[in-house]
Amino acid sequence: MNHQMFILLYVFMINSWYNALAAEPPNATKTFASTQTLFANPERGWITHRFSDDVYDVDSLRSSAEKVSLLLIKIDISAYRNSSHIGQSKLNEIRSVLATCRQQGLKAIMRSAYSWDLVLAPEPKSLETVKGHIMDMKPIYYEYEDIIVAVEMGMFGPWGEMHSSYYSTVNTGLFYPIKTSALREVHATYMSALPTARSVILRTPYYIRQVFNSNTPLSPAEAYSSNPKARTGYHNDAYLSSSTDSGTFDYGWSRAQELAYVGQMTRYTFFGGETYGTPNGPYNKAQNALVESKQQHMTYLNRDYDPPIYNAWGTTVKQEFTRKLGYCFQLQSLSHSKEVAPGGLFSFSLKLRNIGFAAMHLTRPVKLTLDNGKTGSTRVTYNATLSVDPRTWTPEANVISIDRKLRIPANIKQGVWRLLLALPDGSTRLQSDVRYTVRLANENIWNADGTHLLANDISITASAPGTRTNETVFREITA
Ligand SMILES: *[C@@H]1O[C@H](CO)[C@@H](O)[C@H](O)[C@H]1NC(C)=O
Ligand SMILES: *[C@@H]1O[C@H](CO)[C@@H](O)[C@H](O)[C@H]1NC(C)=O
Ligand SMILES: *[C@@H]1O[C@H](CO)[C@@H](O)[C@H](O)[C@H]1NC(C)=O
Ligand SMILES: *[C@@H]1O[C@H](CO)[C@@H](O)[C@H](O)[C@H]1NC(C)=O
Repeated sequence: MNHQMFILLYVFMINSWYNALAAEPPNATKTFASTQTLFANPERGWITHRFSDDVYDVDSLRSSAEKVSLLLIKIDISAYRNSSHIGQSKLNEIRSVLATCRQQGLKAIMRSAYSWDLVLAPEPKSLETVKGHIMDMKPIYYEYEDIIVAVEMGMFGPWGEMHSSYYSTVNTGLFYPIKTSALREVHATYMSALPTARSVILRTPYYIRQVFNSNTPLSPAEAYSSNPKARTGYHNDAYLSSSTDSGTFDYGWSRAQELAYVGQMTRYTFFGGETYGTPNGPYNKAQNALVESKQQHMTYLNRDYDPPIYNAWGTTVKQEFTRKLGYCFQLQSLSHSKEVAPGGLFSFSLKLRNIGFAAMHLTRPVKLTLDNGKTGSTRVTYNATLSVDPRTWTPEANVISIDRKLRIPANIKQGVWRLLLALPDGSTRLQSDVRYTVRLANENIWNADGTHLLANDISITASAPGTRTNETVFREITA
């Protein structure tokens, strides 16, 4: 035999020997189609504002054109300016609107302020009173943690926009910034009032630098922790209005420097807000809005401010925001064992991307289900939670590959099984509510119960190759 044939035969023999030894079942591979369908997803997207004492038209938000699933709850605490505590009636009113959110499948961002009109220095004259009012809400932050996404700092100045305050650097004139000492005290109070997995969102990046006395944005090493910096986000209520976004970036840094700082920190923290200015302006025109929203990782945007700007964007760009605000996960392909024995090992490799503007900032389980495809009392399912944190599925991660082996229960019935994927809410209270599961941006795989059909052709048969055990659970095998 010639040299080349010898090598071929050698490779063939090594391969056969390897396959016999590893006895690995063959794989099936498929690709997933993307979808342009618009739908609501939790903790991101267009938002709308409601005062806690005036909650109207919230039952149609999820099905509106903008697929709103997030409410910004504005809380007017002006009546307690001279009281050491917020009254029970106001606290009950807040509980009631949060309960309404739960009923309607919505989540909430909250902001409290002592004035919702442009007036100078509306706050109590003692910072201890302001801090006491934040602590009055602490029990609510825990009772409704499941649906509270984050809290905007508010408290200072008109609209809680953190200027024109009694605690401003110049407290006899409008629009001066808050003094660093007051900022730090109120920030620290929020850190102790909020559950450790919840953030406070500040009005400018400059304030974040002041609070932490650092020009360095949140780093990957600090992210996903209960460290205060990892729990501090940014909102911009003059988004794209001018080169300084109407004073948002008025603290010695260029717009480019500010955007670079924001772009880094918002890989791991919330950014949201509302647009402002003359439609089709140099910053708020459609093309720049798309570029900066991606760069700044925008998670939420006020649908109701400002419509002329959104109208100038046109329907196509508005719909692009409906899809891309926050995270937007899209499956690309799946490779999996074609057949596996009861008690055997099932391999799979799932590839997906985040085509949204931002990462997911609150984590949740990623669940695989083996399903016999029957309905009613004959349906059998086995569930496994994957060791993966969907917060790490960032837009920058490009193609994310989830490669795992799972133990198939030894007592499973032989036959053809389906594989389903679901991302239910992390809270036990909401985990079986479909409105709080994440929907993937793919065609033809979404089921009304909140699962996605990954495969319907997994053959479970005792004759499949590979090792097996008598373990009766479906679970991920860690290497
Ligand atoms: C708080 O006290 C000030 C000064 O006495 C008074 O002008 C104001 O009306 C009071 N506000 C409230 C809400 O009670
Ligand atoms: C099947 O796919 C899994 C996951 O990608 C991989 O680990 C395994 O080696 C593949 N098996 C074969 C026979 O190709
Ligand atoms: C497994 O997950 C499916 C789909 O989410 C669900 O319907 C089923 O109740 C779960 N089964 C168990 C045993 O928890
Ligand atoms: C599983 O098999 C092992 C030995 O292979 C045996 O010791 C064990 O009792 C078995 N467990 C069950 C639940 O059958």
